[in-house]
Amino acid sequence: MRNFVSIYDIDNLQQAVKEALEVKKTPFAWDTLGKNKTMLLVFFDSSLRTRLSTQKAAMNLGMNTMVLDVNQGAWKLETERGVIMDGDKSEHILEAIPVMASYCDIIGVRSFARFDNREADYNEVVLNQFIKYSGKPVVSMEAATRHPLQSFADLITIEEHKKTAKPKVVLTWAPHPRVLPQAVPNSFAEWMNATAYDFVITHPEGYELAPEFVGKAKVEYNQRKAFEGADFIYAKNWSAYFGDSYGKILSKDRSWTVDAEKMALTNNAYFMHCLPVRRNMIVTDEVIEGPQSIVIKEAANREVSAQTVIKRILESQPA
Ligand code: CP
Repeated sequence: MRNFVSIYDIDNLQQAVKEALEVKKTPFAWDTLGKNKTMLLVFFDSSLRTRLSTQKAAMNLGMNTMVLDVNQGAWKLETERGVIMDGDKSEHILEAIPVMASYCDIIGVRSFARFDNREADYNEVVLNQFIKYSGKPVVSMEAATRHPLQSFADLITIEEHKKTAKPKVVLTWAPHPRVLPQAVPNSFAEWMNATAYDFVITHPEGYELAPEFVGKAKVEYNQRKAFEGADFIYAKNWSAYFGDSYGKILSKDRSWTVDAEKMALTNNAYFMHCLPVRRNMIVTDEVIEGPQSIVIKEAANREVSAQTVIKRILESQPA
């Protein structure tokens, strides 16, 4: 594996899950693989889980790790080429990327959608510049359109908990006070569509995701109907994708909050969320604290997905 920016960087998903479960069982079995190698994690946006789990994963493999929070202590970076840099940004990403790359062997990048321009976001301008100008393997730690380390952890978690070969998995929109990207639901949909699961997406009208991510999923606008018989409920907020509404909040309707009454419609479904979660907006205290909530196990699997990905990249590098 050279880069990890989407599901398309994994050739055999079943094999990858099998490998991840091995990594989970024996995390220190490859503790010299990354000896004398360094992973740099570059954050343009905040993080708790990704920051810690990716560092831990790299350390399990014997790597050194460095973390750069671009907006805290580093020079402010300009990301657009051709701009006259007479504002507050002191350094261009076109110099910063090769400089950062000269200090490391693998680069992790987190850069969310900016919502100024849908085309720029969906062309992954920042992530692709890292791939083009670093000369090093790049791992997406959530980009504008996808969060593949999260989706891989989600898949591992479902595989560990599923009781049938073809569980019903429901991705449900839920309300949130702030504008959030589509990266997590896009990516989750992409990974679920690559399985044999019965995959349903439910959201209010106007929150349709980009068709290339919806794929073969069934879209159901009636949340209660979608929940019927579900084995897994995956809650997430996202902002609108289509037209002039791109990056806008169309609804904060709390009748979409996941609560115990709606969970009772399911097949005793497990509750999932990538975290951080706004309690009593996305999900009630009762559900997230209940016995079917697997959000902590899901977050713990972020270390497993990251370690599997970094291991594969290290194994692909020349000795
Ligand atoms: N789920 C996730 O990526 O969490 P962080 O934003 O805290 O890294």
